[in-house]
Amino acid sequence: MSQPKPILLTGASGALGRVITKGLAAQGWTLRLTDIAPFPDPLPAEASFTRMDLNDGVAVLRLAEGCGTILHFGGISVDQPFEEVLGPNLRGLYYIYEAARRERARVVFASSNHSIGFHERSEKLDDDCRFRPDSYYGLSKAYGELMGQLYWDKHGVESVNVRIGSCLPEPVDARMLATWLSYPDLVSLMERCVLAEATGCAVIWGASNNARSFWGKDAREKLGWTPRDSADPYAGQLAGKLSGNPVIERYQGGAYTAREYSRTSPSPK
Ligand SMILES: NC(=O)c1ccc[n+]([C@@H]2O[C@H](COP(=O)([O-])OP(=O)(O)OC[C@H]3O[C@@H](n4cnc5c(N)ncnc54)[C@H](O)[C@@H]3O)[C@@H](O)[C@H]2O)c1
Repeated sequence: MSQPKPILLTGASGALGRVITKGLAAQGWTLRLTDIAPFPDPLPAEASFTRMDLNDGVAVLRLAEGCGTILHFGGISVDQPFEEVLGPNLRGLYYIYEAARRERARVVFASSNHSIGFHERSEKLDDDCRFRPDSYYGLSKAYGELMGQLYWDKHGVESVNVRIGSCLPEPVDARMLATWLSYPDLVSLMERCVLAEATGCAVIWGASNNARSFWGKDAREKLGWTPRDSADPYAGQLAGKLSGNPVIERYQGGAYTAREYSRTSPSPK
């Protein structure tokens, strides 16, 4: 059997990049890591690290050469002004997809719940719901998912768009009882994204097995992914941990929806 192709991981020096590096390296994968910031941990045996700005298209194409999967976690990861988001999250994403087209590689895109953040918390969403971004950051994630659709329809490039909820060591407020994704569930999801026979252009709700989840149907069966963890045991300590802000509590995107919110009357249902 031929050697599996290396995995390119952008955003490797970030919170989730470091978790994924550790998890996939332990499973023996050959990793090509990259970030604009230095890699802060000891480099695993089968890994290399290259410092790179996602705005540098030539560098992205060069680094992706020979890779079978691109786990795209790099870029602006929080609510920022439009001009900050533009380079890494829009232009950089285009370079990632151009690289994937050239290499016939699969893209796993770290999308976000903030691409759909203005859906009400009372709604149960499936993967084909409308985008309702709650920030320029969330809008860049919707753009990223649509880029995946374009490259699938036009070039047959596969992608898995993971709408990550809240990926932290543990949930810290009431909203995360719905949105929490544990680190082990993130790693097992990445493994399935790499190994799955065929994905097409798929959407996954990136959350653990939470009873209070806002989210329903997605492509997990096709990928063979089952989250093992759950925020439910934290309910006792966190259910009362609310923000006190009616906008934040109304919408799935939480605090991002209320930032610079200037409606004087609530939007109709
Ligand atoms: N952590 C979560 O709960 C969560 C939720 C939803 C989505 N996500 C997404 O997952 C990904 C990783 O999130 P994270 O929490 O690890 O964020 P993070 O900020 O810790 O990591 C992002 C990394 O991208 C790098 N980066 C920024 N600009 C860059 C550029 N121009 N060129 C190259 N690298 C650049 C940063 O240096 C950083 O290391 C992000 O795309 C984020 O939007 C995370």
